[in-house]
Amino acid sequence: MSASLEDIVSLAKRRGFVYPGSEIYGGLAGVYDYGPLGVRLKRNIQNAWLKFFVDGWDDMYQIDAAILMNKKVWEASGHASGFNDPLVECSNCHSRLRADHIEGDKCPVCGKEGTLSEPRQFNMMLKTFLGPLEDENGLTYLPPETAQSIFVNFKNVVDSFYPDMPFGMAQIGKAFRNEISPREFLFRVRELELMEVEYFVHPDKWEESFEKWRKDVHIFFKKVGLPEDMVHELEVPEEDRAHYSKRTIDFEFDFPFGRRELLGLAYRGDYDLKRHQEASGRSMEYRPKDGGETFIPHVIEPSVGVGRLFLAILSAAYTEDEVEGEKRIYLKLPSHLAPVKVAVSPLLKNKPELVEKAKEVYKMLQKEVGNVMWDDNGNIGKRYRRQDEIGTPYCVTIDFQTLEDDTVTVRNRDTTAQERIKITALSSNL
Ligand code: GAP
Repeated sequence: MSASLEDIVSLAKRRGFVYPGSEIYGGLAGVYDYGPLGVRLKRNIQNAWLKFFVDGWDDMYQIDAAILMNKKVWEASGHASGFNDPLVECSNCHSRLRADHIEGDKCPVCGKEGTLSEPRQFNMMLKTFLGPLEDENGLTYLPPETAQSIFVNFKNVVDSFYPDMPFGMAQIGKAFRNEISPREFLFRVRELELMEVEYFVHPDKWEESFEKWRKDVHIFFKKVGLPEDMVHELEVPEEDRAHYSKRTIDFEFDFPFGRRELLGLAYRGDYDLKRHQEASGRSMEYRPKDGGETFIPHVIEPSVGVGRLFLAILSAAYTEDEVEGEKRIYLKLPSHLAPVKVAVSPLLKNKPELVEKAKEVYKMLQKEVGNVMWDDNGNIGKRYRRQDEIGTPYCVTIDFQTLEDDTVTVRNRDTTAQERIKITALSSNL
């Protein structure tokens, strides 16, 4: 049975993955906080992305730029004037909605027909002011994408590392968008984290590079546990593409609330580097080492929101089955993403000899496997259910037999099968 969004939101809150932002004050629309297990899952997702898209390449340069940038960056990039969504307002219930999310002329909130205004362009950039005065001089914007800080550092990286073409620059960073209607949990938020690569290519080579990225995106999704049949490509028509894009493929995913964009693969041409060259007066040209003609590189950009991917992974992993006549919920996460790799428990927590032995095993696994959780709350059945819900692949239990023969019970999350394993062989079997 596939999960509903409510199931996922509820598990995420209950088990300390994701909490509504500023919850004790009634929350803040489109803002979420990651709890202790959410942080671990998020970190594992980011590490998987870094391993696949950055560390596995010889020609990838990761940066970590400041969030705040000179507002001229956003004027040159076109975001200050062009990062817009069409906004309509209902004259009956006064809801403000995104025009492109509405079918027909009926307000989806109050249900009245003919009450929606003509769409007007609403700029989604969040503003802030630096310095003591809230005036034009101090105005800047919070970034809606991490791409621009890559473009403004393009020359720095070329001058420091003399990379051959093609090469990429990668970044994981915060982004902010004043979304008109944030919704569907982590899917559309106002504060997000992006994982982006700007891959610089010779203008004649963009198509072959685009095709390679297209294949790589599918491989990556498989690695993070997204079933192939839940991922779909959509060739975005020109009228729906971002202002900088000459071609975009949206990789869509079957979320619990429908098929929606998960990752965008865009061909940005030389739009951004050219705009920054014009606006800053600094050359963005690349000079090939073999003495060939200089050129402004073109850009292929795979871009994905960490939270949106987090939600896709949770949706794909959420599983319900029946064990011994009782409903069970578990997260079938790939082991490299699971926030806890293994949980260790003494069978009974009031038997000091079991607790002592279990602590030994716990410490050993902490050193050899990492991400181990000590769990002695409730009875063993309850512990298994709790670990299932957070996706822990293995639970290790220390019982009276352990004291005799140095074996422990290892219980598998997906099959619920249990086997006895020698402590000395434990790490290599997890
Ligand atoms: N630099 C390219 C760029 O920003 P985008 O299609 O606007 O392109 C890229 O966003 C990705 O960022 C999307 O595919 C999605 O994964 C994520 N994303 C965009 N807006 C989001 C939002 N409001 N909340 C969560 N994720 C978002």
